[in-house]
Amino acid sequence: MANKKEIRIGLIGCGLMGRTHTNGYKRLGDFFPEYEYRPVLKAACSRSEDKVKAFAEQWGYESYETDWKALIARDDIDAVDICTPNDLHAGIAIAAAEAGKMILCEKPLARTQEEAQTMVDAVEKAGVKNTVWYNYRRIPAVSLAKQIVDSGKLGKIFHYRSNFLQDWTISPDLPQGGTALWRLDSDAAGSGVTGDLLAHCIDAAMWINGAITDVSAMTETFIKERVHQDSGKVQKVGIDDACIFHCHFKNGSLGQFESTRYARGHKALFTFEINGEHASIRWDLHDMNRLEYFDHGDEGIVRGWRSILITDGDQPYMDRWWIPGTSIGYEHSFVHQVADFFKSLETGEECHPTFQDAMETQKVCQAVLDSAASRSWKDTGVENDIG
Ligand SMILES: NC(=O)c1ccc[n+]([C@@H]2O[C@H](COP(=O)([O-])OP(=O)(O)OC[C@H]3O[C@@H](n4cnc5c(N)ncnc54)[C@H](O)[C@@H]3O)[C@@H](O)[C@H]2O)c1
Repeated sequence: MANKKEIRIGLIGCGLMGRTHTNGYKRLGDFFPEYEYRPVLKAACSRSEDKVKAFAEQWGYESYETDWKALIARDDIDAVDICTPNDLHAGIAIAAAEAGKMILCEKPLARTQEEAQTMVDAVEKAGVKNTVWYNYRRIPAVSLAKQIVDSGKLGKIFHYRSNFLQDWTISPDLPQGGTALWRLDSDAAGSGVTGDLLAHCIDAAMWINGAITDVSAMTETFIKERVHQDSGKVQKVGIDDACIFHCHFKNGSLGQFESTRYARGHKALFTFEINGEHASIRWDLHDMNRLEYFDHGDEGIVRGWRSILITDGDQPYMDRWWIPGTSIGYEHSFVHQVADFFKSLETGEECHPTFQDAMETQKVCQAVLDSAASRSWKDTGVENDIG
């Protein structure tokens, strides 16, 4: 740590994302050794003292808190990392901004567009550094897809299609709400698959293929009532279980998106395919280190889909890892996001996606939900491509 500038992290929420982010912070020094800034795991925060104490000990945090307001009030915290359910993002981010802390917030930025706007306003007013964990961008194959599109190899883009399919909420016996199942409770989550899963597809799509201008969507809630964990009573389900939408991109291409938690057999099938004038690309999270590429310019007798294994040092991020032919995993996307955030502290540049970038994704999610509710096309209000 000698001669390194320390950024003292306060992590709020010690569940799945609390672990992936902490792993990212811990790997930075080993794999990005020349970076000027280093994270220090200062404090973790969760409501249950037993659980947060155990988490802090296991993952190497120096201290813990059970009240996020107490964590934000501490002078020895430079950056607040928000890994809580969605209903807490706005309150924590606004308080952290007012306290002058840097903020790394999990996605979706908020439950609604209106709530997200209050967060954007707060970070802009305070002038604090901010980023949102749309980590799939930092999977090397996904980063490479953007590079290829930006290079013009595909020519004019005609189609962008993307899915995010799961199958874990099919049982009507599954309750909603509480610590484990907050995603099924619209008060905590805001929406269902639209904010949870499609938000990832939309962020990647707008990063790679530019602004989505208008949408036509349909949603369905297959199980209309579930027992709520907090009240013990049967309550109406307010989330979308499935969502399908199509859209126009500003560049003239057509988009088609689908997400559900009712696709039996699929656990996290995040895919996208882009068809251009000269070439096509497709990617699948279940085989995340491969990019499929078809180039119409290839000689006819050998023309066909290539399956490119993304492990070479000249492909995005891969010079940091092992040797060509050996793969990395899901957790590395978070290491890369940590690395890009810490590099941005050195360069003074923004670390995309910022709150403002995530706000544009939020606008599309809102337009999708509004379109489904009104059974009509909706403009998203997104005008510019996101960083
Ligand atoms: N980037 C991604 O790919 C990705 C993946 C999963 C989840 N997420 C997002 O990350 C966030 C967290 O999701 P998760 O899967 O880690 O959830 P989780 O349920 O595993 O963990 C949530 C944590 O927040 C804590 N918490 C709840 N209320 C709190 C409070 N008042 N004060 C302090 N801590 C509190 C819980 O105790 C738990 O430790 C969500 O916004 C989710 O959408 C993003």
